[in-house]
Amino acid sequence: MKTTRIGVLTGGGDAPGLNAVLRAVVRTLERRPGFETVGVLDGFEGLLEQRYRVLTSAHVRDLLRKGGTILGTTNRTNPFACRRADGTLADRSAEVIDNARRAQIDALIVIGGDGTLHIARELGELGLPVIGVPKTIDNDLAATDYTFGFWTAIETATDALDRLRDTAESHHRVMILEVMGRDTGWIALHAGIAGGADVILIPEIPYRVAAVERHIEARATGGQAFSLVVVAEGAVPVGGEASVRVADAGDGHPRLGGAGERLARELAPRIEHEIRVTVLGHLQRGGSPVPFDRILATRFGEHAAALAAAARFGLMVCLHEGRITDVELAEAVSRAKRVDPEGALVATARSIGVGFGDDG
Ligand code: F6P
Repeated sequence: MKTTRIGVLTGGGDAPGLNAVLRAVVRTLERRPGFETVGVLDGFEGLLEQRYRVLTSAHVRDLLRKGGTILGTTNRTNPFACRRADGTLADRSAEVIDNARRAQIDALIVIGGDGTLHIARELGELGLPVIGVPKTIDNDLAATDYTFGFWTAIETATDALDRLRDTAESHHRVMILEVMGRDTGWIALHAGIAGGADVILIPEIPYRVAAVERHIEARATGGQAFSLVVVAEGAVPVGGEASVRVADAGDGHPRLGGAGERLARELAPRIEHEIRVTVLGHLQRGGSPVPFDRILATRFGEHAAALAAAARFGLMVCLHEGRITDVELAEAVSRAKRVDPEGALVATARSIGVGFGDDG
């Protein structure tokens, strides 16, 4: 009997739970006669450079609790737009399809965020059977209730806020925490509520410094001489832009950064408090996944492997109202999930006195 080889790769930024998906894929396929899992190293780069590794359950032992990805990843390699030494772009997608065929990869499970899944969809259209597994700590894919890694990031950011509160309270300071979230404020909103932030600034609700100032002053007048502020890296002032460090980080997106510093600079002349800024950065992307993320990652991995075994391609696994299911990949990658400024979570936060910098 011919062995069916299922390739698997991780692309884009890492997220806690990637290894748990790999473990579930390998273990599921190993229990199905005639299937084998091949790991592609470093995302699509591994397909271009033909770097693979057959994976058995021995390779995925004790992986549930490990952050990162044993396969490696990159958010710089897009086979449809590979940068040549002279800076021009080349379409190397045909090479990817060819190499997959040469490696006898019958189908490919692609674990990644928006960008990686777009590439997967395009490769699917060129004839490579693909299955997508959504991943992003930002939780900004509309087709799934949650992506794994998100709740681990929330835990890290909440812990950071708990620690910052100690200093804020002791020194009567305004402590600003900048968290990830390029286009969406899910991390800032959830961690802000869980960590008791006084002000939460997110890309979906443009802020005015004057409104943040008023919130901090009102607290001081009420006897709370300190404030905790969470700022998503993609937060924007009314009429302004997100704070960009590098215009193109190599993946076609800007690398953001500086939102917290910018806010501190603008607030400093307006308030008496000392201000300090902490940028949580990639601490949010690493570490051992929390149980929710381990379970979600395991369910995603198992379902993706089952789809591969049933030769059902062009789909992305997802969580919908507590159930693991799948949607058309093409449809899944076309819709981002943004915080609804009029939604229930923002409303709850406002009701308990959290400011969003908009006087709402
Ligand atoms: O997409 C996830 C994310 O965490 C964004 O929120 C952030 O802007 C980006 O990754 C940072 O990625 P990099 O690893 O390139 O710094």
